[in-house]
Amino acid sequence: MATSMMEITNVSEYEKLAKERLPKMVYDYYSSGAEDQWTLEENRNCFSRILFRPRILIDVSQIDMTTTVLGFNISMPIMIAPTAMQKMAHPEGELATARAASSAGTIMTLSSWATSSVEEVASTGNGIRFFQLYVMRDRNVVTQLVKRAEESGFKAIALTVDTPRLGRREADIKNRFTLPPYLTIKNFEGLDIGKIDRTNDSALAVYVSSQVDRSLNWKDVEWLQTITKLPILLKGVLTAEDARLAVQAGAAGIIVSNHGARQLDYVPATIMALEEVVKAVQGRIPVFLDGGVRRGTDVFKALALGASGVFIGRPIVFSLAVHGEAGVRKVLQMLRDEFELTMALSGCRSIKEISRNHVTTEWETFRISPKL
Ligand code: FNR
Ligand code: LAC
Repeated sequence: MATSMMEITNVSEYEKLAKERLPKMVYDYYSSGAEDQWTLEENRNCFSRILFRPRILIDVSQIDMTTTVLGFNISMPIMIAPTAMQKMAHPEGELATARAASSAGTIMTLSSWATSSVEEVASTGNGIRFFQLYVMRDRNVVTQLVKRAEESGFKAIALTVDTPRLGRREADIKNRFTLPPYLTIKNFEGLDIGKIDRTNDSALAVYVSSQVDRSLNWKDVEWLQTITKLPILLKGVLTAEDARLAVQAGAAGIIVSNHGARQLDYVPATIMALEEVVKAVQGRIPVFLDGGVRRGTDVFKALALGASGVFIGRPIVFSLAVHGEAGVRKVLQMLRDEFELTMALSGCRSIKEISRNHVTTEWETFRISPKL
C-alpha cells in the first residue's frame, strides 16, 4: 500500500518503507555495511552518546540556518553525499535528487558511478553541485571526466580516498549484486567500464578490483590539482595524521567519512573521529562529516564538535525509492525543521553560535572511556 507523505514523521521511516518496496538485491546494496557491520551500528549509536548543554532565555524568535561552503551560500549545513546508481531506486534517479537539492537550496554531490551523466544532471537546472571522483586505472578517462564535470558547472571535486578496493559487504556477495542490465554507469557510457557484468561474486567488488587504481596516493592529489582548477575535498579521512597531510597536499576541505561503514569495519563512528581531525586541521580548511546523520540533533552535534556541515547518504536513496523527488525534498525538509528546532531549544540563533560548550560527550560527563 502506498504511504502518503503526510504519514512520514522522520527520516528513518523511509528506510522501512524502502525495504518493502525495493527488490531485495537493491535494498541490501543500499543498506549494507562491511563485514560484521559494527561500524554501521556505531555510526548511529555514537550520536546517542553526545548530550546537549542547552542555554536558556535567549531570544530565538529568529533562527538563521544559512551557511557558506567553499564560498557558496546554502540554506542549511545539510548536503547530499554521493551515492552510486540511484536509478535502481527510482526511474528519475540522480535527476530527481538534483532537483530536490536545488529546491532546498543545498548542495548535491554526484557519484562517478551514477546512472545519470554529469551533463544530464547539469541540464536539470541551476544548483550548486559537487562531483565525487573515483580514480580509475585509465587516467585519460579520469582527466576527461573531470573536465566534463567542470564544463557542466560542478563546483568542487570530492576525491574518495577510502576505496582502493571495495569493502566486503556480505549481502552483495550472497545476492551476486549487479547493476540491472537496463542501466549503465552513465558517465562511462560507450566505454567498456560503463557496464557492470554479472559475476559469481558482488559484481561491484569485481568492478572496483579491476577498474579502480589502487595505487592512488598523496602524489595523485597533487596530480589532480594539475588537471583541474576546482577545489578538492578529500572524502574518507579519519585520523589527525591524514588530516595534516591533506592540508599539506592542498586539499580545500576534508570530509570525515567511513563511507557509511561500507569499507573498513571497526573504524570509529565518524562523529567520534571528527574532533581529532578538527583539532589537527586548526581551522586551516573546513571539515565536514557524513555517516549516520538521521536527525536534526545529529547535525547540531556534528557542528558543535567542529564540522562546517554534514552530508547524508542512505536517506536520499530510501526516500527516492518511496516518493521520488518529493521524497528527497521531504527528507531535506524534515532534517531542516528538526535542526531549526534543535537550534532554538539549545539557544543558538545562527550557525556561528553553535559551540563546543553546547554539547558534552557521555564519556566526558560520566568519566568513562568511549567504547572504542
Ligand atoms: C555510498 N557512498 C559512496 N561514496 C562515494 O564516494 N562514492 C559513491 O559512489 C558512493 N556510493 C554509495 C552508495 C550507497 C548505496 C551508499 C549507502 C553509500 C558513501 C556515501 O557517500 C556516504 O559516505 C555515506 O552514505 C554516509 O553515510 P550514511 O548517511 O549513508 O549513513
Ligand atoms: C559503494 C561505492 C559505490 O559504497 O562507493 O557502494
